[in-house]
Amino acid sequence: MKMMMYGVRDDERPFIEQWQEQNHIDVQLTDQLLTEETVDQARGYDGIVAFQQLSYSNRMLQRMTEIGIYNLSLRNVGVDNIDLKQVAKLGIKLTNVPVYSPEAIAEFTVTQLMQLLRRTKEYTQKFEKHDFRWAPQISKELNQQTVGVIGTGHIGQCAIRIFQGFGAKVIAYDKFHNPELERQGLYVDTLDELYCQATVITLHIPLFPSTQHMIDATAIAKMNPGVIILNAARGQLIDEQALIDGLDRGIIGGAALDVMEDEIKVFNRNLGDQKIDYPEFNNLFSRDNVLISPHTAFYTDVAVRNMVEVSLNNNRQLIETGTADNLISTD
Ligand code: COI
Repeated sequence: MKMMMYGVRDDERPFIEQWQEQNHIDVQLTDQLLTEETVDQARGYDGIVAFQQLSYSNRMLQRMTEIGIYNLSLRNVGVDNIDLKQVAKLGIKLTNVPVYSPEAIAEFTVTQLMQLLRRTKEYTQKFEKHDFRWAPQISKELNQQTVGVIGTGHIGQCAIRIFQGFGAKVIAYDKFHNPELERQGLYVDTLDELYCQATVITLHIPLFPSTQHMIDATAIAKMNPGVIILNAARGQLIDEQALIDGLDRGIIGGAALDVMEDEIKVFNRNLGDQKIDYPEFNNLFSRDNVLISPHTAFYTDVAVRNMVEVSLNNNRQLIETGTADNLISTD
């Protein structure tokens, strides 16, 4: 069995080596991304394991099948950068890693909220100028907040447990109700109810056509003045211009964005002194009450290990059996 792994980072290598030793399977590694230009390197292999935020192009998928490869395993959860209709049409078997560390993302989300509530960005800027006064950065407490959690899958549930541990009131919205959260009476029936009650809103849902720009000017107009918005899910859930307007008008009191609509232009790159050609990013990045992080919520040792191990197991299962536990349904 021969597998080719694309987009490999140095921090993944020890976990890959361990997996190879345990499974006695040789995996060919490249740091290059999986594109039309690089896919031919996998000719003669049985499966591909990939990780990237760049879209997997339809031409790359087509070429993959032309060189006889039908097994593709992603090392992440989101499948919004791949055309599932094309995957189905070409007969490609696709897997993801649905749960690699919900805690990583939930803990990061709570960390960012704490930073916003305690105004650490402003304090850090003051301290750097040796201004050690308290005022005027009087802060807010998490235990006083009503946190509206949109999406109660693995990450949302984990975030709820942590918020509750801090004494916050939690309300939740999801089309699918988790029985334990239902028992606790956390669900509201509509997003509008959540918008009007929450002082903090956190997004833990996938990007679908139906969720794209769900946080737009209309949604923002229904929110509590001063609400804080947290997004460590997908950038396109939020209309960034509407967010900027909401911040300008004071309806939104702060935001922590680990994902952005056009993040590929900026995130996980060392841009040094280069001018950043992304007006919404520049606007949001300059604000005291907005925290931007470069899609790092997932990036922990536990998560990376699981992403590597589970994706390799998935690819092996596809090659050996023609299916896998984490097969993505393309219906
Ligand atoms: C995912 O697992 O889908 C993520 O958002 C992680 C990302 C760096 C691709």
